[in-house]
Amino acid sequence: MKIGVIGYGVVGQATAATLRLIGHEVFVHDLNPQRMAAGISDGLDRRAEANDVEVDFLCVPEGHLNEALDGLPTESLAVIRSTVPPGTTDSLAAYFSRPMAYMPEFLKEATAQWDALNPAFMLVGTHDATQGDLLTRIFAPLLVPIIRVEPAIAEMVKISLNAYLHTIISFWNEIHLICERTGLASHVVGKICSQDPRVPSYGATMHGKPVGGRCLPKDVTQLINFAGELGYSADLLKEAQRVNAKLAENAAVAGEQVRVGGDSSSVQRRNGPVPLAA
Ligand SMILES: NC(=O)c1ccc[n+]([C@@H]2O[C@H](COP(=O)([O-])OP(=O)(O)OC[C@H]3O[C@@H](n4cnc5c(N)ncnc54)[C@H](O)[C@@H]3O)[C@@H](O)[C@H]2O)c1
Repeated sequence: MKIGVIGYGVVGQATAATLRLIGHEVFVHDLNPQRMAAGISDGLDRRAEANDVEVDFLCVPEGHLNEALDGLPTESLAVIRSTVPPGTTDSLAAYFSRPMAYMPEFLKEATAQWDALNPAFMLVGTHDATQGDLLTRIFAPLLVPIIRVEPAIAEMVKISLNAYLHTIISFWNEIHLICERTGLASHVVGKICSQDPRVPSYGATMHGKPVGGRCLPKDVTQLINFAGELGYSADLLKEAQRVNAKLAENAAVAGEQVRVGGDSSSVQRRNGPVPLAA
C-alpha cells in the first residue's frame, strides 16, 4: 500500500521504518530540509510527488497539526500519531472536511525503532469500520493485538498513559525526597516494594530526578489544561508537577552549595544514614 509519513522526527522515522519493513511503499514529507534529506537517503520518496496515497500518518508535534494538514491532499485517510487531547481528531476532521483517524504511538525515544516494531498492542481510533479495517490491514503483519475504539478514547488512552507514567515516577520521587532527609536509600525501598506483584518496577527502581524527556512533562500539562477547560482541577497531576519542581530546586541548591563550599556531604545527608534493618 502507498503510505505517507508527514514529519520525519522520532515518531516519523520509526513509523516509516516499520511500514517499509512490513511491505508498504512509504513517502515522506518534512518541513525541515535536513530531515527531508535524511528521509531521501533512507530510500523514501517525496510525498509531494506521490499519487494514490491511501493513508498519511501525521507524526508532527501536536502544535503543528494544522499546518501539516493544510497542504495535504484530502483523498487520503489522515491518521494522527501525535499526542493530543480528546476531541482533537474529530475537530480537525470537521475543520478540514476530510477523513481522519487517531493511532497513538507508545514508543520510548531511546529505543524508538525497536519499540515501533515490537509494540505490546496497537490502538486504532476511528468512527468508521472501513477505516478501522484499513488500518488493521496495514499493521496486521506485526502480529500484535489491535484494539479498535473511537478516536477520542484512543486520544484519552495515550494522554492518560503518559500522565500515569509521570505520576508513578513522581510518587517515587516523593518517597526519594522523604528518604533523603534520613539518609535512607529510596532505590532499595523501591526495589523491595516492586517485589510485591501489585507494584510495577517502573519508577520504583529508577527515580530521583525530575521527570524528564520531551513527552511526559508536556503531556501531563496537556491533560491538566484539558481538564481545566472542562472545569475540573486535576490536583493530583498538579501536585506531581510540584514534586518534580521541588526536586529540581533541591538539585539546583545542592549544585550551588557544592560550587560554593566544595563539599556536598552536608547536602546529601543531613542526619546521617539510618540502618535499613529494624
Ligand atoms: N518522541 C517520542 O518518544 C514520542 C513518543 C510517542 C508520541 N510522541 C508524539 O509524537 C509527536 C511527534 O513527536 P516527535 O518526537 O517525533 O517529534 P520530532 O520533533 O522528533 O519530529 C517532528 C518532525 O515534524 C516536522 N514538522 C513540523 N511541522 C511540520 C509540518 N507542518 N509538515 C511536515 N513536517 C513538520 C519537524 O521538522 C520534525 O522533523 C508529538 O506529539 C509527540 O508528543 C513522541
